[in-house]
Amino acid sequence: MKHNIILIGFMGSGKSSVGAVLARKLSYKFCDSDRLIEDSSGLTISQIFERYGEEHFRDMETQLLQDMLDNMDYTVLSTGGGMPLREQNRQLLRQLGYVVYLKASKETTIRRLKGDKSRPLLKAENFEERVDKLLAARTPLYEKAANKIIVTDDKTINQIVADIIREWSAIIKRRVK
Ligand code: S3P
Repeated sequence: MKHNIILIGFMGSGKSSVGAVLARKLSYKFCDSDRLIEDSSGLTISQIFERYGEEHFRDMETQLLQDMLDNMDYTVLSTGGGMPLREQNRQLLRQLGYVVYLKASKETTIRRLKGDKSRPLLKAENFEERVDKLLAARTPLYEKAANKIIVTDDKTINQIVADIIREWSAIIKRRVK
């Protein structure tokens, strides 16, 4: 039995902030898939998109999940917003652990991401339209990949962390019985 919690969700949904606090509270390790890819390639996510394109980045994400299958335990993993797009990745995520989707409304997402310069997929003439389109296409995939959906709009990081810990403790108890 693996003791991993995987956070998925759209850009700006709070995966990294929630993940770091969650890991600290559980005394688990914390990993962020974007940071791992940047560290291993020596390039930023934007540079990878510019030099090699999105598909190459998606291959790197799939490879990362495959590599983690054998050696990840007692870890909270925050994932890039596009990680659950591939069916193969959705399966790998489920194999790796308990998958929690941090869901934010379109309005919250737009408010949080406005002015962001670091995310290649948001470099669009009409930013709100881009977010709207991506959200519409991705929401069903996030829902499909998730064991648990948490709506985050009106919650603080600590409240979200407490929700996840409550669910996780119940799962661990059931597994031990
Ligand atoms: C992406 C989200 C980003 C990063 C890359 C692509 C996406 O991660 O992986 O820019 O496709 O949604 P965050 O969700 O951490 O911003």
